[in-house]
Amino acid sequence: MKSISRASAPAKVILFGEHFVVYDRPAIVMAIDRRAYVTARIGREKNLIVVRSRAMNASGAYTISGEYHPIEGGLENKTKFKPIYMIARRILAMSGEETGIEIEVDSTIPIAAGLGSSAAVAVASAAAIGNLLKVKLSQDEIFRLALEAERIVHVNPSGVDPAISTYGGTLIYRRSEGIRRLEVNVDLPLIIGDTCIERVTGDMVSHVGGLRGRYPSIIDRIMDAGEAIVNLGAEALREGNLKVLGDLMNINHALLCALGVSNDAIERLIGAARRAGALGAKLTGAGGGGCIIALSEPGNVDRVAEAIKHAGGESFVTGRAMEGVRIEE
Ligand code: MEV
Repeated sequence: MKSISRASAPAKVILFGEHFVVYDRPAIVMAIDRRAYVTARIGREKNLIVVRSRAMNASGAYTISGEYHPIEGGLENKTKFKPIYMIARRILAMSGEETGIEIEVDSTIPIAAGLGSSAAVAVASAAAIGNLLKVKLSQDEIFRLALEAERIVHVNPSGVDPAISTYGGTLIYRRSEGIRRLEVNVDLPLIIGDTCIERVTGDMVSHVGGLRGRYPSIIDRIMDAGEAIVNLGAEALREGNLKVLGDLMNINHALLCALGVSNDAIERLIGAARRAGALGAKLTGAGGGGCIIALSEPGNVDRVAEAIKHAGGESFVTGRAMEGVRIEE
């Protein structure tokens, strides 16, 4: 057993295929250069799991049986921290130890914004706690632990978020097949625009599920189109064709609008990005708020980012992260 261990995992953007991926269609997802950092230490009290998040200004302690005692902030954080507690409990059981663990989360990934913050935290937690307790976890095991934890907070998660945070790079992900690495032969000038409206992924997934239940013959055709976009998108990434990628992003966004997961704030940022010359723009993640992504010609990135800000969003330029989960110390 070590006394301290720190691990990190990247955030992500879904380039194509969110929501469709829940129904076993493929999605293309890319790790980006923002990471969640998790530090795990041996705790003072046996079997007590203490979780603290700097970004949320909150902390609390779980007994091994799941009773939550707030330290900073209220009882509402019990559910937010629960995936981390579940992961810690599982790895403690695997280790055979009865020690307490203190887990500190330090992340620059916007929360509930479609960038995979909760999955990145779950993946980094599994790696940090595994390393602390000397439980050897493969990447596949880290992915599965994080996915199980995501199931507690999201309705029917596809697994795309923990997959990209674990494996990094640019992937095609399909629920029934797992990951396939994609060849990307171009620098993607991507701008992220944040509506700064938090939303619950599970609610958006449930909304699409309801629509699909009522109109399966229509929604399944939309998902067929989504799958064709992913196939053409993989080809365009390989060929480095920014123009085609931009077109596909616009079409993908229109399909997501048809599913009812866009809203006024998202449309404002997308309109502004396109008017500023973006080759394509779409919401990324679950929608209902959260983030958009815009693809630009390399020389036009600042103009697109500025236009998103003028339209009321926060914006930042992002780069690809090749590395998935990693041990920091
Ligand atoms: C996740 O970032 C986006 C959704 O596709 C949900 C999921 O795949 O679990 C909406």
